Amino acid sequence: MHFLSVFIPLSHLLITSWAQSEHSITSTGKLRAYDQYNIIRFHSNNITHVLKDVIQPMTNDYDIWTRNTEFIDIKLLKTIKIPNSNEYSHEIIINDINSLIEETYDSSLGNNDQENIFDVSLKMNNNNNDFFYFKQYHPLQSIYLWLDLMKSTFPNLVTIENIGTTFENEPLKVVHISSNNSSMNPKNKTILITGGIHAREWISISTTLFTIYQLLTKYGASKRETKYIDSLNFLIIPIFNPDGYKYTWTNDRLWRKNRQETYMSNCQGIDLDHSFGYKWDNNFEFPCSEEYSGQYPMEALEVKHWDTFINDITTRGVHIYGFLDLHSYSQDIIYPYAYSCDELPRDYENLLELSYGLSKAIRNKSGKNYKVVAACKDRGSDLNPKLGSGTALDYMYHNKAYWAFQLKLRDTGNHGFLLPPKYILPVAKETYAAIKYFCDFILNPEI
Ligand SMILES: *[C@@H]1O[C@H](CO)[C@@H](O)[C@H](O)[C@H]1NC(C)=O
Ligand SMILES: *[C@@H]1O[C@H](CO)[C@@H](O)[C@H](O)[C@H]1NC(C)=O
Ligand SMILES: *[C@@H]1O[C@H](CO)[C@@H](O)[C@H](O)[C@H]1NC(C)=O
Ligand SMILES: *[C@@H]1O[C@H](CO)[C@@H](O)[C@H](O)[C@H]1NC(C)=O
Ligand SMILES: *[C@@H]1O[C@H](CO)[C@@H](O)[C@H](O)[C@H]1NC(C)=O
Ligand SMILES: [Zn+2]
Repeated sequence: MHFLSVFIPLSHLLITSWAQSEHSITSTGKLRAYDQYNIIRFHSNNITHVLKDVIQPMTNDYDIWTRNTEFIDIKLLKTIKIPNSNEYSHEIIINDINSLIEETYDSSLGNNDQENIFDVSLKMNNNNNDFFYFKQYHPLQSIYLWLDLMKSTFPNLVTIENIGTTFENEPLKVVHISSNNSSMNPKNKTILITGGIHAREWISISTTLFTIYQLLTKYGASKRETKYIDSLNFLIIPIFNPDGYKYTWTNDRLWRKNRQETYMSNCQGIDLDHSFGYKWDNNFEFPCSEEYSGQYPMEALEVKHWDTFINDITTRGVHIYGFLDLHSYSQDIIYPYAYSCDELPRDYENLLELSYGLSKAIRNKSGKNYKVVAACKDRGSDLNPKLGSGTALDYMYHNKAYWAFQLKLRDTGNHGFLLPPKYILPVAKETYAAIKYFCDFILNPEI
């Protein structure tokens, strides 16, 4: 067994030590508290009606957690009186948001181990990985140090590139994984995986980290991972929205956007998934909205850097075969396009087959059911064609990546974005099963 760890400066520990040691972070005022809110699920076959005709006339203090063709989950003030109607039914799915928030910072390791939480260590023996790092969520600095540790442990397989800086001067890091043997990957087949486009979707970040860990620690020991790294390049961006992610640790666990300035000084942030430069529109023009799309395409710095990076690597001969964009929640495999149901995706039958294959790989691994959904339906663009897009999915699918999906990970609403740490590993493992299926498909589309 070898054991590695890196020294972590005290300043990095301080960022989050309070979150680990105090159990009432929302009540002490360190994090925004949500006592006054519930998460309500409206069941209806016309979600647009619920939103436009019922919610919006009553309040502009609402936050859509998830929506699909059957229901919409919305954070609303407890004081809002929801009228009865035979067009929808509704129920409270979460009424104590604060407790769930606190649980996401809790240690599943027991009190004695809490001080070791930020020991970014990697314990390995040949076939029994400890998965120590995946028992908790970790803040930005800890994750960036962990990535450096991966690089120093696997120097022949990993490079880390900073592709730009955010509004708050954080580096945007892309992890390249490849054995760099061009005779085994003559076409430069590349798979891109992104996590954390939305800051509060922590499970998407831990899942990309687990993917990195599995690929690297199994290289040379397992046939599959060895084949993947020899015959594919991986470009993984675990935290697409570093500023937003930092903010979920220090101020507001439910923050979604980045932290860029807008034309309204009291409302920061652009929704990265409405900022991409394909079928962008300014339908979400109010800067205080969680879905604010900015004033022009790719105004969000992270998206701009990504666009430059993607254009750069594709002109240098990288061929992006697959793109997986990880989000939460609702357990869906989502295929393009998002902006319209009228635009038929290319190679539609195979795209669907691949979607069901991803879902089946997850079911086979954990028994969890992930629905296959067209992105336009998931967003409600079929009912409201003016919704537009500007999504990472459409942008990447349009002419950058041959296959592209958004995966919305667990759960189905019991915790929503606030999935407790004990689910980090189960979700990572089932998603990794889908990622392996994706790699197999790309290496051998005949399966
Ligand atoms: C759904 O509701 C919207 C907003 O009220 C309305 O414009 C639309 O026609 C409705 N769609 C259907 C299929 O009823
Ligand atoms: C692989 O090759 C590329 C360019 O050919 C280089 O930028 C990268 O650092 C190499 N990666 C490793 C791990 O050596
Ligand atoms: C690259 O792969 C080829 C084919 O498997 C092998 O013969 C060659 O030795 C490898 N090159 C390096 C530098 O590992
Ligand atoms: C693969 O992409 C790298 C840039 O990342 C480039 O240096 C290399 O020439 C490409 N290889 C082929 C075979 O196109
Ligand atoms: C299902 O799981 C088994 C064992 O875990 C594995 O051998 C098999 O390949 C999986 N099948 C699919 C379709 O993923
Ligand atoms: Zn998301």
